[in-house]
Amino acid sequence: EKGNYRHFMQKEIFEQPTVVAQTLRSYLRPGEQRVALPQIDFDISAINRVTIVACGTSYYAGMVAKYWFEQFARVPVDIDFASEFRYREPVLPDGGLALFISQSGETADTLAALRHCRTQGQIIAAVVNVPTSSMAREADLLLPTHAGPEIGVASTKAFTCQLAVLAALAAHLAVKKGLLNHREEAIIVDHLLEAPACLNAALDHDEEIASMAHLIAPARDVLYLGRGADFPLALEGALKLKEISYIHAEGYASGEMKHGPIALIDDKVPVIVLAPSGPLFEKTVSNMQEVQARGGKVVLISDKAGIEQAGEDCMAVIEMPKVHPLIAPLVYAVPVQLLAYHVAVAKGTDVDQPRNLAKSVTVE
Ligand code: F6R
Repeated sequence: EKGNYRHFMQKEIFEQPTVVAQTLRSYLRPGEQRVALPQIDFDISAINRVTIVACGTSYYAGMVAKYWFEQFARVPVDIDFASEFRYREPVLPDGGLALFISQSGETADTLAALRHCRTQGQIIAAVVNVPTSSMAREADLLLPTHAGPEIGVASTKAFTCQLAVLAALAAHLAVKKGLLNHREEAIIVDHLLEAPACLNAALDHDEEIASMAHLIAPARDVLYLGRGADFPLALEGALKLKEISYIHAEGYASGEMKHGPIALIDDKVPVIVLAPSGPLFEKTVSNMQEVQARGGKVVLISDKAGIEQAGEDCMAVIEMPKVHPLIAPLVYAVPVQLLAYHVAVAKGTDVDQPRNLAKSVTVE
């Protein structure tokens, strides 16, 4: 079943261009250059608040979606870990949209949160990879990801497919709210359609990333930094590394470094910086220089322009294609997945079945 791959996780990382394309096919009409969601029997343009609930990697996909929904559709978003959601007694607006994100569709806390929202009169939408799961059955609006079965315990292709669906949903909401005209919608559709090719371009760096594994494998701690919609990718990168290589890793919003974590920096703590070039790039570069001034060793993941501008004093650089901000989180997921994968392989840990973890967490 693994074909030519050594691990399911590796196979699933490499399937991303195909499964993201497959997922996008059911949310876009390329001929008309339109976003097209499944049949919706409520007025989506009336939604004025979205509550997102999920766990783990699916939660990070939700964090990215918060940036997109707010930026493109101007809809305020609340997001919680499912294990926190019910217990904080959230205030939910009448007829609000509650959005649950789950690969398995069975995660106990997320399912309990969904049922709680049902009793609170929310419209229930679910982004789910297993179409026969409890969450898929109980949702008013089912938004399937078409990632196919994910076997590796660490989620990879399900995450990028979740992002693809959420990007289409954000664009759809923006269109319905009159915030994108047809021309702007067409541009977004074109960018989304470029995602599979950009994922392939990111995967081309596999060998180069494998050759960097020895720089990270001896570390006791690793930090990941990102800004804006790429901040959740820093969290996701840190989670992937922790899960499969057992190296302690944390993700921070780049600007938060100086508020405490910078105290950890010395020449033994690699810092992975996720920073596509763009309006916020300069700010991230100055955060990066603060790290370097304290002996920190930086791995910069950016595009050509970003690397030309700031790559010089880095321990290593990984060049991503230049992409639209709406697809950057999908594309930047690849290098952090590959880095975690190759570090784990270098350390000889069980990549597909990391200790203490289960694929589907059905207890609270
Ligand atoms: C991380 C990982 C977990 C899951 C989390 C939620 O690699 O796989 O953090 O993302 O347990 O699972 P689902 O998405 O099935 O609800």
